[in-house]
Amino acid sequence: MSEALSQLKYKIDLNRLPEHVAIIMDGNGRWAKARGLERSAGHVEGVNTVRKITEAASELGIGYLTLYAFSTENWNRPKAEVDALMELIVIAIERETPDLIKNNVRLTMIGDFERMPSTAVERLRRCMEETSRGTGLVLNLALSYSARWELTEAARKIASSVAGGKLAVEDICADTVAGALTTASMPDPDLLIRTGGDHRVSNFLLWQIAYSEIYVTDTYWPDFDKDAFAEAIIHYQSRERRFGLTSEQITSLTE
Ligand code: IPE
Ligand code: IPE
Ligand code: MG
Repeated sequence: MSEALSQLKYKIDLNRLPEHVAIIMDGNGRWAKARGLERSAGHVEGVNTVRKITEAASELGIGYLTLYAFSTENWNRPKAEVDALMELIVIAIERETPDLIKNNVRLTMIGDFERMPSTAVERLRRCMEETSRGTGLVLNLALSYSARWELTEAARKIASSVAGGKLAVEDICADTVAGALTTASMPDPDLLIRTGGDHRVSNFLLWQIAYSEIYVTDTYWPDFDKDAFAEAIIHYQSRERRFGLTSEQITSLTE
């Protein structure tokens, strides 16, 4: 077990936790470069952060944690980095599976698995199966994922239902689209965190983050720790989510 959450956790209102936190885990390469190390050293360290943040989310009682681990565009990185990263992800998940089970975490994955090596997919599926009885945190890994891929797939699914006579065009609504996404069984993220300082979404959950609160920190992912995670939640809790309404309307709704 890594270091527990510090005093900061007492500043978090446990009655107003984000139900779903999504994280763009960025900055592994820059973290390594700043230390004169290979990029892969940053990815290795980044895996430790995944463990810490999963523990923190589970400890706090967050329902869903979606981690952007590898994007569709990341397939275009140098082959050696891609191969090393794939292997690292699979080994890390296998190594962590007993602890995930112990902490009642259920592992799920979203992404285009057809592009992944089939042995890696099989090994990851086994971990999902082994944690499938977890009733606590849902740890959702976005692997070989991009929102445009997901939305294109959703369009195909909906079109084929229409072509097969199972769905009328007039009946297509926002819920039809949401239900055709890989996240159909999850609430939308309440909080989207990006580490590494860039203010962009890099093809992540484009539909689902429509009303997410966005928190960007300059901290590189390997340096992001439980306290940094707590800070992001505290910051989230200071925001007023208006969902298109006025502040006065929101106040009267909560009175
Ligand atoms: C994030 O770190 C991990 C992946 C995208 C797989 P990067 O590897 O993008 O690190 P930077 O952004 O180059 O520092
Ligand atoms: C986003 O990071 C994808 C993941 C964290 C997996 P990138 O490093 O790939 O994003 P860009 O290239 O900075 O947009
Ligand atoms: Mg990056």
